Amino acid sequence: MNFKSHLDEFEVFSKVAQAAQNLGLETYLVGGYVRDLILKRNSKDIDFTCIGSGIKLAEEVAKQFDYHVPVSVFKNFGTAMVKLEDWELEFVGARKESYRLESRKPIVENGTLLEDLERRDFTINAMAISLNKEDFGSILDPFDGLVDIKKKIIRTPLDPSITFSDDPLRMLRAIRFAAQLDFDIDPDTFFAITENASRLKIISAERIIVELNKIILVKKPSYGFKLLFASKLLHEFFPEMVDLQGVDSVDDKSHKDNFYHTLQVLDNVCQVSDDLYLRWAAILHDIAKPATKRFNPKVGWTFHGHEDKGARMVPDIFRRLKLPMDDRMKYVQKLVRLHLRPIALVKDEVTDSALRRLLFDAGDDIEDLMKLCRADVTSKNNKKVKRYLENFDRVDQKLLEVEEKDQMRNFQPPISGEEIMEIFNLEPSKIVGEIKEEIKEAILEGKIHNNPIEARELMFSIAKKKGLEPQNKSPK
Ligand code: CTP
Repeated sequence: MNFKSHLDEFEVFSKVAQAAQNLGLETYLVGGYVRDLILKRNSKDIDFTCIGSGIKLAEEVAKQFDYHVPVSVFKNFGTAMVKLEDWELEFVGARKESYRLESRKPIVENGTLLEDLERRDFTINAMAISLNKEDFGSILDPFDGLVDIKKKIIRTPLDPSITFSDDPLRMLRAIRFAAQLDFDIDPDTFFAITENASRLKIISAERIIVELNKIILVKKPSYGFKLLFASKLLHEFFPEMVDLQGVDSVDDKSHKDNFYHTLQVLDNVCQVSDDLYLRWAAILHDIAKPATKRFNPKVGWTFHGHEDKGARMVPDIFRRLKLPMDDRMKYVQKLVRLHLRPIALVKDEVTDSALRRLLFDAGDDIEDLMKLCRADVTSKNNKKVKRYLENFDRVDQKLLEVEEKDQMRNFQPPISGEEIMEIFNLEPSKIVGEIKEEIKEAILEGKIHNNPIEARELMFSIAKKKGLEPQNKSPK
């Protein structure tokens, strides 16, 4: 296998080769770029390894571009980056590394290309393409990465316990690559993950979430989660999800396994959306089922209130996993809290006020909520699935009709607190909030329409009951 024609296609490779030649440095294309080239995946990050100083090579590369490209040097790591319009190049000298057991800080020494490749994570990431004159474009594959790509296998180049003790995050990366590429993990490599899972403890949550989110963003994340569960890596950072697994039976009555149900919901959501946080909502929608599980001899298993308790669990889980504590967390929390509401709207006799309330509570996230609810239908009985989904079509229709009439999803109170204070000469106080709330309730209940004229009329009558007199009836 030779990649000369690929290298000839892009100017960047001839420039790097020229720079390397000027400095007399043996230089190779390595890592993910080589893997992705073989897999025909697009990649814009290119790693180069030279036998010598990566920083000097980067500076010489910049010279080839007449210094029109920015170079960032990371002296402590001995690496440098060059940013081109379409590519990001990283340069590093070949090294042999060993890590101390309780620390991620490696002892780094200069090494040969082979020593550099053997300290990498997987055989598919431990190949190099030569940029040297004698064998420009030829591939060096000392650990049979090409065979593993063909066999669709993730395997470590060295004894897996060595590779994983160098950097325990690699156990998670193994599963991430398996999920992204739809590969199997070699049995010895997988066994080593199960043996070393607890070493993930020394890895920061920030690094873990990067890999976990990559698993969640694949086409069918259930595969990755099954591997995380089977290897017990999941137990290290996400015990709430592990707790979903299992089935209890009393008097021949059992409930479904909520771990596998959650994975099915997640896969279903992935078919209709690429949004990471809608996927997180799917992962967390039943997270409080274990905590709310009860057995009632008359009705069987119940999980009352799991949606509210689940929503309350979201911030702690987000904080611990280093997910963003901003609107994205609030969005997930909202979907978890509301995920049962559309089901209650399936009945024929559902009132407009129930529909208005859901639109008010979900706001612009109503479509995503409906996607989650549809994904939540996981029965094995196709007839049932069809019926439930048709029910949701009807809910959609009813929501549409009510929204057209009442415009509730972006509800803005037709009378503001400031107006109320001005009209009745009030300071900011509880009573202002009470008047606003009563007006909102009247609109949601359909007692008045969502418009300022009816709202003002109601405001005066509420105020009168509270003994308030208007001071100024026509504020500016
Ligand atoms: N690498 C490693 N161990 C790690 C991280 C990275 O050995 N914990 C090596 C691998 O050879 C990898 C290369 O460094 O191919 C680049 O790492 P990175 O950019 O994180 O991953 P890529 O393989 O490029 O894949 P992706 O872009 O999908 O993250």
